[in-house]
Amino acid sequence: MFDSYARNIDYLRVSVTNRCNLRCKYCMPEAGVDDLGHDNILSLEEIVRLVKVAAKIGIQKVRLTGGEPLVRKNITKLIADIACIPKINDIAITTNGMLFADMAEELKAAGLTRVNFSVDSLKEEKFQYITSRGNLHEVARSISKALELGMAPVKINTVVMKGINDNEILDFVELTKKMPLHVRFIEFMPVGDLPFYKTDRVVTVSEIREIIEQKYELYKEANVQGNGPAKSYRVRGGLGTVGFISAMSDHFCNECNRIRMTADGKLRGCLFGKEEFNLRLALQNHASDEILSDIFSKAIREKPQRHHMDEGWGEDNKRKMYQIGG
Ligand code: 5AD
Ligand code: SF4
Repeated sequence: MFDSYARNIDYLRVSVTNRCNLRCKYCMPEAGVDDLGHDNILSLEEIVRLVKVAAKIGIQKVRLTGGEPLVRKNITKLIADIACIPKINDIAITTNGMLFADMAEELKAAGLTRVNFSVDSLKEEKFQYITSRGNLHEVARSISKALELGMAPVKINTVVMKGINDNEILDFVELTKKMPLHVRFIEFMPVGDLPFYKTDRVVTVSEIREIIEQKYELYKEANVQGNGPAKSYRVRGGLGTVGFISAMSDHFCNECNRIRMTADGKLRGCLFGKEEFNLRLALQNHASDEILSDIFSKAIREKPQRHHMDEGWGEDNKRKMYQIGG
């Protein structure tokens, strides 16, 4: 289905929980987040039904996010059920990689096609510091497993923060030389109101590129499958690619093909928007598929043309990344 700006919306991101087993400094308070509770999150059956409705109006790709999607009980069953929905041809997850290794085979058998790992440091100690309870060794094991199972392209999301991990940019690039990994450097964004976000922690994509280009020549690459907003490059002889996601300095809203569903059943046209459409309330009122379909259509029709974060608009966005799913 096309939105009001002729963008073909075929990609649904589904946050399946706002809980997480890590506490990345920029994402979650150390104490964790209020549990939404069983009654407030969509059941797996409800998610499947909603994805079915969405598929009928043109959604073809689904990504499960969180929080950490793999802490949701029976996630494998959810993937298997989504994989059975006609017209859905791509099911991906974004994970921190802490639980993936031991689940990889069953996830793949269930129909998971691709996986993105969020990794902000390649140094054990720094990784620990950023995530508060992560274990880089486990994450590395997960990444190897994804490669081994041929879940290509395997992507790594790296949020670059000045004074925290900006000294590792070249290490991540080096990784794409040696391994068929697709690293995407993400500009730090003011999502939510956590105190860790500061403008002087932001490293812009052009700054990141400058650092890389002092050592490597970047060759423009045809887009990596499903790389969405990232512009991809390869260093000479690289097995993987380097991408840049510049939500702030150069927004890519004109190419945006996605809508988002939160774990508590709200549909959002834009990560940084304020508008939400309440699917959960509709479900509670025993809505027919037709009514649910109308809600999806409305959310797509009213998807904003672009975000206005650069004008300070995102700062008062009450929902945080772990509540929307990135
Ligand atoms: N800025 C940029 N990226 C963020 N993510 C979470 N919070 C932020 C933020 N404030 C990233 C995660 C993950 C993806 C879903 O979003 O690291 O890779
Ligand atoms: Fe968990 Fe991802 Fe948030 Fe880190 S960024 S706390 S891994 S949801």
